[in-house]
Amino acid sequence: MIILKNRVFGKAKLHMKRCSDNEKGHETDLRSLQAKMTRLEEAGRERRRIEELIRESEAKLRALYRHSPIPTITWQKKGKDFELIGYNIAMEEFTDGLIANFIGKEARSIYHDRPDLIRSMVQCFRGKGVVKKETPYRMFTKGIERVVAFTFAFVPPDFVLSYMEDITRRKAIEEMLTRSEKELRALSARLMATEEQERKRVSRELHDSIGQYLTAIKFNTESALHQIKQREYQKAAGSLRTGIPLIKQTIAEIRRIMMDLRPSVLDDLGIRATISWFCREFQGVYTHISVETDISIEESRVPDELKAVIYRILQEAMSNAAKHSGADRIRVSLAGRRKRVVLSVEDNGGGFPVSRAHDKKEMPTGLGLVSMRERAELSGGILNIRSRKGRGTVVTASWPL
Ligand SMILES: Nc1ncnc2c1ncn2[C@@H]1O[C@H](COP(=O)(O)OP(=O)(O)OP(=O)(O)O)[C@@H](O)[C@H]1O
Ligand SMILES: [Mg+2]
Repeated sequence: MIILKNRVFGKAKLHMKRCSDNEKGHETDLRSLQAKMTRLEEAGRERRRIEELIRESEAKLRALYRHSPIPTITWQKKGKDFELIGYNIAMEEFTDGLIANFIGKEARSIYHDRPDLIRSMVQCFRGKGVVKKETPYRMFTKGIERVVAFTFAFVPPDFVLSYMEDITRRKAIEEMLTRSEKELRALSARLMATEEQERKRVSRELHDSIGQYLTAIKFNTESALHQIKQREYQKAAGSLRTGIPLIKQTIAEIRRIMMDLRPSVLDDLGIRATISWFCREFQGVYTHISVETDISIEESRVPDELKAVIYRILQEAMSNAAKHSGADRIRVSLAGRRKRVVLSVEDNGGGFPVSRAHDKKEMPTGLGLVSMRERAELSGGILNIRSRKGRGTVVTASWPL
């Protein structure tokens, strides 16, 4: 009985222990489940946070792309071709919105006449890098000609961005600069050659006129000396007398050459007197041309540094009129007008196409027109030539006072 009692009691105890063990096990499971759930929730929150961050940075990137000031197109590789899948606001503006009509179109159809651009895109895609190309370009949207700097940039996995910068103005300015640099070089080469020619001319004149006169004077003087030694005083006086006109001519000749180089009358008497003197001399040589002068500006109003420039332009304009125009009348005027000093030389000759006068093929030109313009502009003035076929030519140079 006692044994039975003990057994029953022992079983009950064992059962109770098992029950308590089970309860403990459930509690542990619950706790670990709860921990797992918390971790999952945290992971979910983290994922959502990261997704939010990605969305934000995508939106930022999209905004950057949309608002970038450089016109941009996005192409996506499609088979052997590229499909236009996007563009930014700058591109819309660049094409006046016409780019929208090309969404979904393929590069080979858009650039059907520009295989070079397709080649650049393929090269960029294959090399996974950047390809640049500056080229004259007819815009496929507006059909107008521009000069464009293309930059094709590969973007993984299968995009090509093409940035387009309109460099038409920059190119035009660059070309203008190169052209004017070339012109300047040509001009300075021609100026050097002219300077050399001028030296030769002066040396020839000295040789041919002054040299001849001085030889004759020397001969005369030697004869006179010889005659004096021979006590032939009358003959000696005669020899010396014939020398006097030669000396006079030499003086006149020297004056003429000096005048041609720089008229001293310009420094001594001023621009008004120089113009009058020059026109008189000119009239003496070109007797078939009547020269009218109208010098209304006061001497003191013409700045000293302009006087030689005015004289040189007058010389060239008059010489051109005499050489090329066939005119029988030239009007010269120097006046003060609207706070400017204005020189004008007008002929009634045949006229000439001014715009073509600088084109060597059309008209083999000299240096006169270019150097007149150079002189006027370098001294702060402007030169204007108006000429009509059969109606003569007016050369006007003016400077601010
Ligand atoms: N007043 C004018 N009437 C008609 N043609 C002119 C006149 N001035 C210039 N021309 C034309 O323009 C061209 C260029 O003139 P420019 O003065 O530059 O050269 P050039 O007189 O021929 O030579 P250079 O002045 O160097 O001695 C002339 O050859 C001529 O055909
Ligand atoms: Mg000339």
